[in-house]
Amino acid sequence: MKNIVILVSGSGTNLQRIIDTIDSGEIQNAKVTLVVADRECYGLERAKKHHIENILIPRGKNFSSELGNVIPKDTDLIVLAGFLSILKPEFCENWTGKIINIHPALLPKFGGKGMWGMNVHNAVVEAGEKESGATVHFVTPGIDEGEAILQKSFEVTAEDTPETVAEKVHQIEYEIFPKAINKVLGN
Ligand code: GRF
Repeated sequence: MKNIVILVSGSGTNLQRIIDTIDSGEIQNAKVTLVVADRECYGLERAKKHHIENILIPRGKNFSSELGNVIPKDTDLIVLAGFLSILKPEFCENWTGKIINIHPALLPKFGGKGMWGMNVHNAVVEAGEKESGATVHFVTPGIDEGEAILQKSFEVTAEDTPETVAEKVHQIEYEIFPKAINKVLGN
């Protein structure tokens, strides 16, 4: 059984998807042992509803070291599922190859500092991109720079707005996140 720790900052629909796909067997041989939030958010409530151990570590300069103290040593995978703090390089290096993130665009496009949430979708539409999508990638000290694990795109049409792009990206995320987790876990 592989142990997964999930980090959240927001509504946690990707967290929910991971919980549900573990329950349904789409993600095999894994359990969520801990959910960590860096702020009050609905993701934390989802963990509580599912009786998953959870903790709030307020965001700020000590976040990464406090996180390092609470993550169980036998953790196989740390999953950033809508998580907004930047993890310190030292933390990333301690867990090399064991931290993954989902990003709401086709990296390396529309990644890096400030590229989160609606900023991403606004930029995609403003640039007149013909496609967008989602990327699951390894987390390294460089923001959104780690190797891609899985990526899927869709066509952006003239009718699309940042809001419709956001909705389509979310659907793609729900599809590729469980697949990427299986891949990293060697399932
Ligand atoms: C997702 O779009 C993810 O790509 C980004 O933050 C969003 C989180 O959504 N990193 P949710 O909290 O899982 O609903």
